[in-house]
Amino acid sequence: MLSPFPYRWALFVIAVLPAALLAGCSGAVAPEYETGSGATDVQPAIVVPALSEQAVAGQQVFNTTCVLCHGVNAAGTNQGPPLVHKIYEPGHHADFSFRNAVGQGVPAHHWNFGNMPPVPGMSEESVEDIICYVRELQRANGIFAGDAVPTVC
Ligand code: HEC
Repeated sequence: MLSPFPYRWALFVIAVLPAALLAGCSGAVAPEYETGSGATDVQPAIVVPALSEQAVAGQQVFNTTCVLCHGVNAAGTNQGPPLVHKIYEPGHHADFSFRNAVGQGVPAHHWNFGNMPPVPGMSEESVEDIICYVRELQRANGIFAGDAVPTVC
């Protein structure tokens, strides 16, 4: 007969550890990063700055591949969060999180939209262009200032 100890330990590993790991992530989210189902978090009006050439290229790919969920000007939809949001500033979501999102997808962890599926077949160059586009939008909307955290743009 199994002693209850290893059984409980297994239960801990299965049930508590993933939750703790997830909490570890959202735990890093300060209250000003409060997120929800999306609808009320969508930025009311996004300021679109004069975009660099690279950002314009990124905007074009974004508008064919990401816009369905992340919305026009990355303002969010009822399918996905706004990327022009404090939570996605480079200090909290550095450029690699964009590369990961496209390559691996994103398990739902900050919002209640469900998982983001990976976006197959996108060139590395297009991903860099999209990051550039989103960073320029973020900067123009006061999400971050300066270049304390390096970004592609
Ligand atoms: C089918 C809907 C959908 C599409 C298409 C989509 N996303 Fe997402 N994306 C989501 C959802 C939902 C989340 C939020 C997951 C969470 O944190 O709860 C997300 C999160 C992200 C994040 C945050 C990653 C992180 O580490 O938290 C980035 C960056 C991102 N998406 C970029 C993109 C880019 C770039 C594209 C286009 C190439 C794209 N997404 C296309 C639904 C989508």
